[in-house]
Amino acid sequence: MLVFDTLPSTNTYIKENIGNLEDKSIVIADKQIAGKGRLGNSWLCDDENGMLAMSLLIKNPLQPHRLTVVAAVAVSRAIEKLTGQQAYIKWTNDIICENKKICGILCESAIKGDSLFYVICGIGINISQPQSFFDNNNLPNGASLKSLYGKSYAKIQLAELVVENIISAMNESFENILACYKEKCCTLGKYVKFIRNNKEVTAYAKDINSDGMLICEADGNEFTVSAGEVRVRSVSGDYI
Ligand code: BTN
Repeated sequence: MLVFDTLPSTNTYIKENIGNLEDKSIVIADKQIAGKGRLGNSWLCDDENGMLAMSLLIKNPLQPHRLTVVAAVAVSRAIEKLTGQQAYIKWTNDIICENKKICGILCESAIKGDSLFYVICGIGINISQPQSFFDNNNLPNGASLKSLYGKSYAKIQLAELVVENIISAMNESFENILACYKEKCCTLGKYVKFIRNNKEVTAYAKDINSDGMLICEADGNEFTVSAGEVRVRSVSGDYI
């Protein structure tokens, strides 16, 4: 486990040092100054290092496109084990406790040379930021484990639990993992809206397919929505 005081981003660190890092390397930074979120967003960190910013390098995974689903299930399980509270998944991979986002996951993959394929699984878990951090940074859907449950959890212990759960989930049948994902997924069974081809679409979120895509229905037509495509909100305008 490589632990740094400050990095631009743990995902970027792995990308830039890929040649020197072994499979399952873990990189943690107390503070990220250029943290990356999904869909090109930035991922903010507070001044008191209240977030666990970690990345796990997985070299040559068997099913790289399924790792986002695997990681979401594994991280939610780790959080449940640590806190004893239920953790849900908002499609694709936001981890939700008490209707608030307490963790985001950014899986990035690449090919090096001809064939070496790797996935960097970047995980940001809000451990102890005060509610004022989310309020002051216009993050109304965010919360930390401490702001929700009043308890402080140790970063490294949580990181270890997360990695342990990812590795064991990678060895579990994908059928099981997908079933678990669907059980925890708070997007399913709701009407959601998103922007597609510059148009707002409202659709019923029916299911998740084996590639982790959201199966939706609108006007009698069924279609799939991929993770990189849209930001899904419920029709009520609520985050969940
Ligand atoms: C999201 O947009 O929800 C995904 C956020 C992922 C943030 C984590 S923090 C550790 C890793 N390093 C990054 O730069 N991003 C991910």
